[in-house]
Amino acid sequence: MTPLMKPTCLVILLLLACTPASIARAQDADAGEKLFERCVACHTVEQGGANRVGPNLWGVFGSAAGQRDTGFAASDALKKSGVVWTDETMSAYLERPRAFVPGTRMLFAGMKRADQRDDLIAYLKSVTR
Ligand code: HEC
Repeated sequence: MTPLMKPTCLVILLLLACTPASIARAQDADAGEKLFERCVACHTVEQGGANRVGPNLWGVFGSAAGQRDTGFAASDALKKSGVVWTDETMSAYLERPRAFVPGTRMLFAGMKRADQRDDLIAYLKSVTR
């Protein structure tokens, strides 16, 4: 190796050391955006977006289930569930909605793959706050 190549190698090493995390996050949200096609018939995500079959999802993370001021009439099952939406509760609900919140009116069979739920949650977090 010539002395001149050394700075180049250092730059490449630094790039390799610094980028994987950010690349992974971008890929997650991108994959999640495609997975959201399974939700879009019933949900919008943008601030002030319409309620469809289900409520608009703006501000859903950190909120108590069924308690946001969206104008959507959530089921008693959801409102009284005591669930607060975190990565963990969202993942459990999306895996099997009616097992996690018995009596919920969300007619979605569930997303079995944990990696897909993680991607979807990364996307949702990026667009609902
Ligand atoms: C067939 C329509 C339908 C589909 C598809 C659907 N949902 Fe829902 N969703 C609903 C309904 C209806 C509710 C309200 C449930 C209740 O009141 O019990 C709901 C509630 C929710 C809530 C709770 C909101 C709150 O205010 O607490 C979240 C989060 C959610 N859905 C996310 C999703 C995601 C993410 C997907 C895609 C994987 C999805 N839903 C697919 C109809 C749907």
